[in-house]
Amino acid sequence: MDVMLSVIDGAELHGFDADTIIKATTLTMIAGGIDTSTYTLIWSISLLLNNVHVLSKAQEELDVHVGKDRFVKESDLDKLFYIQAIIKETLRLHSPAPLLLPHEFTEDCIIAGFHISKGTRLMTNLWKIHTDPSIWTDPLEFKPERFLTTHKYVELRGNYYEFIPFGSGRRICPGISFGLQLLHFTLATFLHSFEISSPIGAPVNMPETFGVTNLKSTLLQVLVKPRLLQIFTPNDVIVLWGFPRLLRVAMHCVRLLIMLAKVST
Ligand code: HEM
Repeated sequence: MDVMLSVIDGAELHGFDADTIIKATTLTMIAGGIDTSTYTLIWSISLLLNNVHVLSKAQEELDVHVGKDRFVKESDLDKLFYIQAIIKETLRLHSPAPLLLPHEFTEDCIIAGFHISKGTRLMTNLWKIHTDPSIWTDPLEFKPERFLTTHKYVELRGNYYEFIPFGSGRRICPGISFGLQLLHFTLATFLHSFEISSPIGAPVNMPETFGVTNLKSTLLQVLVKPRLLQIFTPNDVIVLWGFPRLLRVAMHCVRLLIMLAKVST
């Protein structure tokens, strides 16, 4: 906000005044950033609850690099390769924008021998690309390890067309760096601070909604209890799920059952 206020500073752009531009830019960032980040975290936690061996490995990584005497810091994130791989694997299986956004050709062109007319609309089937068995072995399985071994070279910035959850090219998501930082930091802090489990012990249902963004269609319920007892006191009742979320999304997605009061000393 500071940058926008100082850079634009009363100027007009394409006939719009500074306040309108700043308001519109802020709205776009909120619209582009909230659902995508929240949904990815919901899916990642659902996948971890269904794959507890992955959850354990993530917590081992946190214990090695962070320890149990302090909270995760931003400077820890570069060392948490397994957690980064979990986020990538979540974005592969449950991209928050499974059809990207609609694009329109601005001029006639030829792609792979096909004539494409100006005005043609392009919808990209990301799910198909991200689960192509010729690229991904066991494409429907949650295997973060693939991003540390066979697919170690695959990054997220639109240069590897087999994996483009943020899009690619000129209209690629401008929030990639912020979004990834947010996802890594939130997931790492959550897994480091809490033991998590499914309240009924059964696997988490994974149906998706149909729409531009890909939300889990059933509530995710998570039982949490503190892992860092030397930091938390047993009587603390803490909800660390502070995403800036719309009430609608909050009600439909996540209900954390806080059982901290029951933890004995
Ligand atoms: C999990 C995190 C995120 C994912 C997976 C994601 C994904 C995407 C995708 C697929 C697009 C469309 C790209 C295309 O048209 O080909 C997009 C556009 C956009 N994203 Fe993100 N995004 C994320 C986080 C964010 C954040 C945190 C912000 C801002 C703070 C943001 C702001 C935007 C904006 C403004 C656009 C529209 C860009 C344009 O139309 O040129 N995104 N994002």
